[in-house]
Amino acid sequence: MCLCIYLTAVLGVKAAAVAKSPQEVSGYLEENTTLPSGVDPSWSLIRIEWSIFTNITLIATYRNGIKNTERVPQYTGRLTLNTRSGDLTIHNLKESDATEYTVEVRNSEGEDKIHQIKLTVKQKLQQPSIQIVTSTSVESGCLMVVTCSSLDEGVNLSWSVEPVSVLTINKSDPSDSSAQLFAFVNTRENFASFTCISSRDTESVSSKPVTPKCDSKICGKLLNGTHSVTNKHSIS
Ligand SMILES: *[C@@H]1O[C@H](CO)[C@@H](O)[C@H](O)[C@H]1NC(C)=O
Ligand SMILES: *[C@@H]1O[C@H](CO)[C@@H](O)[C@H](O)[C@H]1NC(C)=O
Ligand SMILES: *[C@@H]1O[C@H](CO)[C@@H](O)[C@H](O)[C@H]1NC(C)=O
Ligand SMILES: *[C@@H]1O[C@H](CO)[C@@H](O)[C@H](O)[C@H]1NC(C)=O
Ligand SMILES: *[C@@H]1O[C@H](CO)[C@@H](O)[C@H](O)[C@H]1NC(C)=O
Repeated sequence: MCLCIYLTAVLGVKAAAVAKSPQEVSGYLEENTTLPSGVDPSWSLIRIEWSIFTNITLIATYRNGIKNTERVPQYTGRLTLNTRSGDLTIHNLKESDATEYTVEVRNSEGEDKIHQIKLTVKQKLQQPSIQIVTSTSVESGCLMVVTCSSLDEGVNLSWSVEPVSVLTINKSDPSDSSAQLFAFVNTRENFASFTCISSRDTESVSSKPVTPKCDSKICGKLLNGTHSVTNKHSIS
C-alpha cells in the first residue's frame, strides 16, 4: 500500500512535470505583474509553492493554511499570493525579477500541477518630445518644420496632424530615434497641431501636442485672430 501511494505520487508528479515550454509573461519596471498559476479555477488549492526555476529557491508558499510570501530578501514586501487562484503578483518590478518561475500546486483531491513562467521585465516607453525648428510665413500660408525625438532606442516615430488637410512631408531617422515633419499650413487652415507617436511592438505613447505660431505678421495676425479660428471650427 505504501509503495502504491509512493508510485502514484511519483507518477503523478512525473505526469504533471511533462512540461510545455514556459508561459511567457511580461511586465514593466516599477509596476506590478501577476504570474498565473495556470490551474483550473474550479480547483480548491491546499498547497501552493512558487519557486525560482533555476535554483529552486522557494519564494512564496501556502501550506496547511499558512501563507508565507517573505521567504527571500529580494522579494520582501513585494509579493501577493492569491490562495484561491494560486496566482502570484510581484509588485514594483525590478530588472532582477526577470527569470523563470515554477509553481507547484495541489488541490483538495490530491491532484498536483506544475506550471512554469518566464518573466520578462520591460522599460516603459518614454514620452517623445517635439521641437519647433521653424515656423515661417510664406506666401499664402505658413511653413512649419518640427522634429520629434525619443530617448528610447529602436522605436518607430510617426505623426498625427490636425487638421488632416495640412500638407506634410515627413522623414525619419531610426538610427537616432528622431523624425522630422515639414508642413505647409495655408491661410484658410491657419492653424496646425502636431503630435508625435512613439511605438514599439504593441506599445505606444504620444507626445504633448504642439501648435506652432507663425513667425510673421501675416500669419501672426491670422493666428491670434480668434474669429477665423472659431469660423474654421464651425465650418468643419
Ligand atoms: C501595485 O501594487 C501596489 C502595492 O500593493 C499597489 O499599491 C498599487 O496600486 C498597484 N498598482 C497597480 C497599477 O495596480
Ligand atoms: C537563487 O536566485 C535568486 C535570484 O537570482 C537569488 O537571490 C538567490 O540567492 C539564489 N539562491 C541560491 C540558493 O542560489
Ligand atoms: C510619414 O511618412 C510615411 C512614409 O513615407 C507615410 O506612410 C505617413 O503617412 C507619413 N505621415 C504623415 C503624418 O505624413
Ligand atoms: C517599425 O515599423 C516597421 C514597419 O511598419 C515594423 O516592421 C517594425 O516592426 C516596427 N518596429 C517596432 C520596434 O515597432
Ligand atoms: C496678435 O499677436 C501680436 C503679437 O503676438 C500682437 O502684437 C497683436 O496685438 C495680436 N493681435 C490681436 C488682434 O490680438
